[in-house]
Amino acid sequence: MANDVVVLGLGYVGLPLAREATRAGLSVLGYDIDRTVVEALNSGQSHIDDVTDSDVEAMVKAGFRATADEADIASAAAAVICVPTPLSADGGPDLRAVEGAVGAVARQLQPGMLVVLESTTYPGTTDEVVRPILEKSGLAAGVDFHLAFSPERIDPGNKEFGAHNTPKVVGGHTPECTEAAAAFYGRFVETVVRTKGTREAETAKLLENTYRHINIALVNEMAKFCHQLGIDLWDVIRAASTKPFGFQPFYPGPGVGGHCIPIDPNYLSHNVRAKLGYPFRFVELAQEINATMPAYVARRAQNILNDAGMAINGAKVLLLGVTYKRDISDQRESPATSLAQRLLRLGANLTYHDPHVPSWTIGDVDVPRAEAVEAAVADADLVILVQNHSCYDAEALAASAKQFFDTRGATAGANVHRL
Ligand SMILES: NC(=O)c1ccc[n+]([C@@H]2O[C@H](COP(=O)([O-])OP(=O)(O)OC[C@H]3O[C@@H](n4cnc5c(N)ncnc54)[C@H](O)[C@@H]3O)[C@@H](O)[C@H]2O)c1
Repeated sequence: MANDVVVLGLGYVGLPLAREATRAGLSVLGYDIDRTVVEALNSGQSHIDDVTDSDVEAMVKAGFRATADEADIASAAAAVICVPTPLSADGGPDLRAVEGAVGAVARQLQPGMLVVLESTTYPGTTDEVVRPILEKSGLAAGVDFHLAFSPERIDPGNKEFGAHNTPKVVGGHTPECTEAAAAFYGRFVETVVRTKGTREAETAKLLENTYRHINIALVNEMAKFCHQLGIDLWDVIRAASTKPFGFQPFYPGPGVGGHCIPIDPNYLSHNVRAKLGYPFRFVELAQEINATMPAYVARRAQNILNDAGMAINGAKVLLLGVTYKRDISDQRESPATSLAQRLLRLGANLTYHDPHVPSWTIGDVDVPRAEAVEAAVADADLVILVQNHSCYDAEALAASAKQFFDTRGATAGANVHRL
């Protein structure tokens, strides 16, 4: 085989994986249906926060090549699928990208190849959706080719844990498939964790994200009643976190964002409902609570202005940080969007500041971007810290604001409104 691996889907997950494999000396091919991504990568340009242009240049120099030509897939010993798994219009799984990518692999499948699905999905996908498509080639999984699921655990913006030092869970269609996948990842990942099969690996990923989703919902619900009871929840969490066992801190916020926490648990609850006919109540409750947070923040903003003798209608409201996560530019599912929609509906005169977002459109409104954060903070009637990017000195900004609403627990000052 001319290439050790082809990575299908060169986004937030696929590109860092391709970089790690290239760094480890594997010959790596990247396949994507988006020709602009392919061309940019081949000319040394990255479109992903965690991968720099110089990383891509180094990859290309080391032999990495991106392609949109499906026939190239046949040149690789392993195919790793990292395509998006969003929700469909009815809130269920949308596996069209997975089916498309697996179809491309099936048409190019060679005996002995290893095929791994990394996209987050519901338990049974590898066996019930991926395997039948691949077997249309006439080759059988576990006999003629290896098939496995290995969940992606990438944490965008995390400087400590990347692809090489985050343990990699692998579950194969057969024990031999598990070993083939473990041997492949063992070439560039420090620790490989084997599961009994593909379903256990698929469910492990969903357990991880559901656990976060539920615990964030727990503190979000507490934030609301603690505010009414005059209890500082941030201080409560700080105190509880000193317990050296049995407690992990989670923090409230203006809502959950990204395309993992708000989406992945739905794959699991949808699957439980579809297959077993009953709800996964924890997930559905967490979803309900987390989804109320942007409206809650908007209402608190309205009350803060009211207490200061102002109507939100016509008030100058500045949002600081509009991405779903600190220090990255990804805005997918960011709760800032839903918050902004509500504030605009209430008639707020909205501006935003975010070093990672050059322009921001909500519906058909282009929200004006503040260039100098200090001046914009001093000018606004209300500043809402939505995302605490590390470039913000929240205490100093709060001190110069007329009203400062901190949704991230970044300040301790007495004259600050906190979630
Ligand atoms: N981004 C994260 O933080 C993260 C973390 C863990 C798991 N995941 C999961 O990883 C998967 C991929 O997510 P992502 O964030 O990398 O998505 P992304 O949108 O950043 O990138 C996906 C890429 O796949 C390409 N693509 C779409 N259909 C294709 C096809 N049929 N063939 C080849 N390429 C195709 C797109 O053009 C795009 O470049 C999802 O299942 C996601 O839930 C993401």
